[in-house]
Formats: sequence, C-alpha cells, structure tokens
Amino acid sequence: MNTQIIKIDEENIDMEMIRKAGEIIRLGGLVAFPTETVYGLGGDALNADSSRKIYAAKGRPSDNPLIVHIANLEALFSIARTIPAVTFKLAERYWPGPLTMIFEKTDKVPSQTTGGLETVAVRMPSDRIARALIEASGGYIAAPSTNRSGRPSPTVAKYVIEDLDGRVDMIIDGGEARLGLESTIVDLTGEKPVILRPGYITKEMLEEILGSVEMDRTAFEENTSQPPKAPGMKYRHYAPRGNLTIVEGELEQVRNFINRELRNSEDQGSRTGVIATDETAGSYRASSIKSVGRRKDEVQIARRLFRILREFDDEGIEVIYSESFEGRGVGQAVMNRLLKAAGHQVIHLEKGSNSE
Ligand code: TXA
Ligand code: MG
Repeated sequence: MNTQIIKIDEENIDMEMIRKAGEIIRLGGLVAFPTETVYGLGGDALNADSSRKIYAAKGRPSDNPLIVHIANLEALFSIARTIPAVTFKLAERYWPGPLTMIFEKTDKVPSQTTGGLETVAVRMPSDRIARALIEASGGYIAAPSTNRSGRPSPTVAKYVIEDLDGRVDMIIDGGEARLGLESTIVDLTGEKPVILRPGYITKEMLEEILGSVEMDRTAFEENTSQPPKAPGMKYRHYAPRGNLTIVEGELEQVRNFINRELRNSEDQGSRTGVIATDETAGSYRASSIKSVGRRKDEVQIARRLFRILREFDDEGIEVIYSESFEGRGVGQAVMNRLLKAAGHQVIHLEKGSNSE
C-alpha cells in the first residue's frame, strides 16, 4: 500500500487536506493522526471492516478493544446505551481532553471495534487536527496508539512513519504530541468508578468530581490472579528493544549502582543507556544518557518518556537503566508505563546498603 504522508499545522489547519483524510476514513481506509496524548491509527469506528484493518495494520490481537474518538457530546448518545449522570460532570471538566470513559455500548458499535465486549471506550480529544478529522470522517474514529503492538507509543510522526509506512492510506504529521502519554481510562459501568489505565488526568482530579475512585490493581502489579479490566494492559507493552531495568532507592545509591552496572555491560561490549533526570544526568557514564527533565516535573517526564525509549532503539542501545520516579499525580502514569516497558524488572536498593 502506498502511504501518503502530509504535514498539517494545528495553528493553521489545511481543511482541504482534512476533507481528503476524512474521505479516506468514510470509505473504509486508515489514517494515522496526531492527538494531544499520542498519535492514533484511525478508522471508521462504526465499520467492522475498518476495525479489522486497524488490528491487521497494528499487528494487534483482535480481543483488545479500540477507543472511539468523538468531537462533540451529542455523538455519545448514539453509541452509549446508558450514560450515568457523572459523565456530564466529567465531560464538562475534562472533555475535550485526555480522558477516556467506558459505557455499555449500543448496537451501532460493531463488536469488532470493542474486541467482542459489550462496552465501549469513548474519548473526545482536544487536538484541533484530531477534532477536525473526526468531524470530516462522520463523527466516530476508532483509534489505538499507532505503535506496532508492544512498542512505545509514538509522540512524533517520525515513529508513526517507522511503524506504519505502507500499512495505512495516510499519515498526518501534526508535530510533537503535547502530553506524550495515553489518556486516563475510567470505567463507569460498575458500582464504583475504576481507573483502568492511569494518565494525565490523575486519580485526585477524578475524585474531585466522583468522590472515591478505585485503581485497577493490575495497573502496577505484575502477577495478580485477576486479568486486567482493560484487555490491552495484559500484553507486554511500551518496550524498547534494549533490556530495561528500573532501579529504586536513595538517589546517591541508585547512581552508584547504575554506574557500576553500566561499566560491567560496557566491558562486555554492550551499548548502554540511562534514563536520568536533569539533576543526575551529568554523573553517569554510558553510551547514551537521556534526561527526562527535572525530577519534580512529572508532566515533563510524561511528555518525554516514550520518545526517549524510541530514541534508544534508534541508537541501538542494548542495556538500559532507569531511575525510578515519584508515583504521585501524573507520576503514577509515568511509573505504570515505565514498569510495563521494563517488563516489571525492578531492582530495589535497601537504604544504607553498600552499593559499591
Ligand atoms: O490517548 C489515548 O487513549 C490514545 C489516543 C490515540 O487517543 N489511544 C490509545 O488507544 O491509547 P490504545 O488502543 O493504544 O489503548 C486503549 C486501551 C487498551 O488497553 C484497551 O484494552 C482499553 O483501552 N479499552 C478499550 N476499550 C475498552 C473497553 N470497552 N473496556 C475496557 N478496556 C478498554
Ligand atoms: Mg496503545
């Protein structure tokens, strides 16, 4: 398949291009497009064939449901069977934005889009290119992140092209994603709201509106007996090609430990990388040292993490160590993704233990 790659400026949107892209989706084709979280691989959410094509292009198991993207609240009424009252409060505050809500679905949504589930995940993105495209496409775009299954989600078009060139009809380059981490997913179909995937909209932010909210345990634990409620969270995910290990403990100890391990790996001929912070980057020795930003700036860390993981791949880095980050606020989402990227490979250094 010949993939058309076009650039669109969010500040000055070329509506003729958007019309073309919308037509591709209406006719059952696929268009990769920017959102404020990560790039999405879009097809008509109400067309079962389009959803099948999305799974094939992404190399994704078809039991893993897709998020349906809408551009206005009215669109929700024809795809959600029951809409709890809190939906409107959440929507007022966080839509358009990086929040996905789960509802019972109507028959209008094919089961191919929802991976066979009777529920549907819905999000209204804030990115203006995404919104224009949704409107031009008929109002409902099913879109997973554009990464080939298992890889870190693309936040810049370069990595969308790497993963999808030749597999979709069009790729829209809209620059770097503002947030860099996928949406928070909250399930509203049970007795209590449950966060299935943490994100930029934090538990605290949801609790301001919903009262108490639960976090699906499987978001942070590896071997729980129950399967995750968001089927996608059970697959190995976000992984760079190199072997990634997270090191937890007092910063000084962590630094010493990582430097020692890096030296060993380099001695064995491996190319090494470190995920550091502005505070620590100068004290490492590795083939590639990348700072995610200031340690306290979780929003910045969230924005840079996936891109850094992909850059290590570009550089052929084989062994990667990462510092651990504060699991508060957006940091909770950062640690959720980092743990999955590392396949839960974590080394915990005991306080005061001799790390040299
Ligand atoms: O920010 C985002 O949400 C991005 C952009 C493109 O909008 N999309 C995204 O989609 O992250 P994806 O497919 O990579 O992740 C969707 C997650 C998966 O883990 C999937 O299992 C879960 O949402 N999900 C979708 N529908 C669901 C449902 N009905 N019930 C439970 N989980 C669902
Ligand atoms: Mg994904």
